[in-house]
Amino acid sequence: MKPFASLPSLFALLLFVLLSLRLSPSCAASDSAYDAFLQCFTRRTQPSDHVSGIVYSRDNSSFAGVLVSYIRNLRFNSSSTPKPLVIVTPTRESHVQAAVLCSKDLGVHLKLRSGGHDYEGISYVSEDDFFILDMFNLRSIDVDIQGETAWVQAGATLGELYYRISEKSNVHGFPAGVCGTVGVGGHLSGGGYGNMLRKYGLSVDNIIDARIVDAEGRILDRKAMGEDLFWAINGGGGASFGVILAYQIKLVPVPEKVTVFRVEKTLDQNATDLVYKWQFVAPTTDPGLFMRLLLQPVTSKTQKGQKTLRVSVVTLFLGNSDQLLAITDKELPEMGLKKENCIELSWIESVLWWDGFDSGPLPALETLLSRDYAANYLKRKSDYVQTPISKANLDWLWKKMIELGKVGLVFNPYGGRMSEIPASATPFPHRAGNLYKIQYSINWSEDDPELEKNYLAQIRRLYSYTTAFVSKNPRSAFLNYRDLDIGTTTNGKNSYEEGEVYGGKYFNDNFQRLVKVKTAVDPSDFFRNEQSIPTLPN
Ligand SMILES: Cc1cc2nc3c(=O)[nH]c(=O)nc-3n(C[C@H](O)[C@H](O)[C@H](O)COP(=O)(O)OP(=O)(O)OC[C@H]3O[C@@H](n4cnc5c(N)ncnc54)[C@H](O)[C@@H]3O)c2cc1C
Ligand SMILES: *[C@@H]1O[C@H](CO)[C@@H](O)[C@H](O)[C@H]1NC(C)=O
Ligand SMILES: *[C@@H]1O[C@H](CO)[C@@H](O)[C@H](O)[C@H]1NC(C)=O
Ligand SMILES: *[C@@H]1O[C@H](CO)[C@@H](O)[C@H](O)[C@H]1NC(C)=O
Ligand SMILES: *[C@@H]1O[C@H](CO)[C@@H](O)[C@H](O)[C@H]1NC(C)=O
Repeated sequence: MKPFASLPSLFALLLFVLLSLRLSPSCAASDSAYDAFLQCFTRRTQPSDHVSGIVYSRDNSSFAGVLVSYIRNLRFNSSSTPKPLVIVTPTRESHVQAAVLCSKDLGVHLKLRSGGHDYEGISYVSEDDFFILDMFNLRSIDVDIQGETAWVQAGATLGELYYRISEKSNVHGFPAGVCGTVGVGGHLSGGGYGNMLRKYGLSVDNIIDARIVDAEGRILDRKAMGEDLFWAINGGGGASFGVILAYQIKLVPVPEKVTVFRVEKTLDQNATDLVYKWQFVAPTTDPGLFMRLLLQPVTSKTQKGQKTLRVSVVTLFLGNSDQLLAITDKELPEMGLKKENCIELSWIESVLWWDGFDSGPLPALETLLSRDYAANYLKRKSDYVQTPISKANLDWLWKKMIELGKVGLVFNPYGGRMSEIPASATPFPHRAGNLYKIQYSINWSEDDPELEKNYLAQIRRLYSYTTAFVSKNPRSAFLNYRDLDIGTTTNGKNSYEEGEVYGGKYFNDNFQRLVKVKTAVDPSDFFRNEQSIPTLPN
């Protein structure tokens, strides 16, 4: 029998055990994960890569601040939301390569975040142990106005992109989303649509080239990655295939003056007639005219104590107000648009107007460079409408919305350029045959789990009420309106069957091609998430 260890070392052991018990296990795990990551990161980069100051451990006093700066949905800012072991904030492409290889070496899940606007927070939340690769420092934008193109890094925002284009030209723009703080990395790789989609299609219909880091840590441009992978990252979601470093985009012409307006009608002002007719006009009218509808239950101003539904028509027209009125007088007189409702602006001013400044004077254009964001608690869902909803059904829907009380709908008309592009041209399949997309929307500002349960139930109930009015087999959805209700994967042995469920809804017949590309470029499924493209079984 061996003698007991010396008294001092026994004491040391006891002290260690006591200390370990006091430390939370995740905290201790984080420290070692940080050390291991940093060691690998240093090994996988050159001294000239300047790696100091870009990796944040959980113990770092800036960790929480860096994490929350791009959380755009407060549902995922609670103390119970899983936190990453490490946040990496690359300032060079070589850092991205090293981060991919080190996550692979250490077998830790890597989450990719650009602007953080994912509605389900999947760019910065995971049930597994995970690192975050946060792209916000990689935000350069290089506009070539002679060539009518631009290179834009993934961590840039749409507002920055629009601003940099407008610095060089007042007759160029780019068709992408209407919220300036949305990130290029998630938005463009997921499709990207905005108020010029009827004229120019989606963002991905206007992309020329890209640079990505693949699962082997290689930097590939379009030529090196090949047309299949290039196709996949233009609407199939970047996060299943690699890290998007940058896209080269094609700028589009915009007139010197565009026209915007907002017109509102409630049910007593025949809003139902307007919506009914809108379904026939908005998807077929002049492609330069984008008339979005916002539908929301509100308290009636005319009938005391009554609830009603308010319809707001929010519009961009690529032309002047006389041309616009000639169209709306003829095609949609139910709207009652008058010259005094119309505001003529430069395109870049219209971007600001759409980005939350549609009442009162416009702020300085530099507002588009701001990354400030007043986050809310929220949930979104999406649907596609392929045949007009009857007046009786619209009235029934309004009644249900008023009963529920808080869920709003947004109708975004398609048609125009959207109907000309084949469904297989990009992974985004919702083209000809779709009249408009519905977004279901609910926001709240209280940190209250009971309320959250109630609000999530409300939006799901409204989604169930509309079943008969929307696309079927599958009931389609828009990837950028991330919704984990429509199916998820645990990336285990059933990932293909699980992926078919949500993948069929987001990508319809394009799902199979995405699976083939995925299987070819990332067979070990390094780039995965709750709704990623699976590899083929076996
Ligand atoms: C306020 C608001 C307004 C919106 N308006 C519009 C709109 O007008 N039109 C529209 O189409 N959509 C809109 N969206 C949805 C938006 O396009 C998507 O949420 C988009 O994915 C956000 O991109 P992000 O980089 O900001 O998000 P992130 O949360 O950073 O990323 C979203 C997804 O992309 C992945 N990803 C991020 N960066 C990379 C990268 N560099 N390489 C590979 N994968 C990456 C993430 O892992 C995640 O899966 C809006 C969202 C919000 C919150
Ligand atoms: C926190 O991490 C950052 C990034 O690596 C580093 O620059 C900073 O010095 C760290 N702060 C502390 C207090 O350790
Ligand atoms: C997110 O949570 C942290 C910690 O509770 C809190 O300090 C912070 O204010 C929250 N962020 C927002 C935008 O509410
Ligand atoms: C609503 O429509 C009815 C019937 O077409 C019409 O008589 C009425 O004037 C309209 N009301 C408004 C406010 O336009
Ligand atoms: C939720 O908030 C967003 C912006 O923060 C707004 O555009 C949208 O209309 C709101 N939706 C509802 C239903 O209030």
